[in-house]
Amino acid sequence: MKTFTLPLAALVAISALAPSYAVIYSASNSAIGTPGGDRFQHQVGLDYALDVLEKGSSSFWYAFAQQNETDRKNVTEITVTITQSMIGISDNVNGDIRVNSKYIGNFSGDVKEEFTGIVYYELARALQWDGQGQAPAGLLTGVADFFRLKAGYAPRIRS
Ligand SMILES: *[C@@H]1O[C@H](CO)[C@@H](O)[C@H](O)[C@H]1NC(C)=O
Ligand SMILES: *[C@@H]1O[C@H](CO)[C@@H](O)[C@H](O)[C@H]1NC(C)=O
Ligand SMILES: *[C@@H]1O[C@H](CO)[C@@H](O)[C@H](O)[C@H]1NC(C)=O
Repeated sequence: MKTFTLPLAALVAISALAPSYAVIYSASNSAIGTPGGDRFQHQVGLDYALDVLEKGSSSFWYAFAQQNETDRKNVTEITVTITQSMIGISDNVNGDIRVNSKYIGNFSGDVKEEFTGIVYYELARALQWDGQGQAPAGLLTGVADFFRLKAGYAPRIRS
């Protein structure tokens, strides 16, 4: 038995030193008590939002042949927040995705599907390579739109 102790300890040390690619996902709703925030809570929900982040990321890596983690952009954290303190439909800074609760409140149609599409678009923006900042903006947004479309969540309204 004693002979197994050393190899096991060595294995643990190696995996702890190996670079990590794990992404931490989180979702929050800071618009509860507003019509849009409450609608999100009832018709979409935070569990579903988390699920979209995880499944959407996997789909992205699959679609862009980045199954091997070493091919991926190193993104450590992705969050989605429902908020009324923003302009526009959604945005994303370094994986901090925000979705406007007023847009959710006013949306007519399947709000769950629309939310999914918005998050797919923003996920693609967060996970895509950008040629070290040199890629044209139109190419990057086009790739993200394409990813959303291919996933079956074409936007109903263009921003
Ligand atoms: C990714 O970035 C995080 C934080 O900057 C770092 O701890 C981690 O080692 C990086 N992973 C790789 C594979 O470079
Ligand atoms: C992933 O890519 C790295 C670097 O190219 C390579 O060393 C590794 O064997 C690949 N892993 C798999 C599971 O293909
Ligand atoms: C609809 O949009 C307007 C303008 O942004 C906003 O004032 C209103 O609260 C929204 N309605 C809902 C139900 O969220």
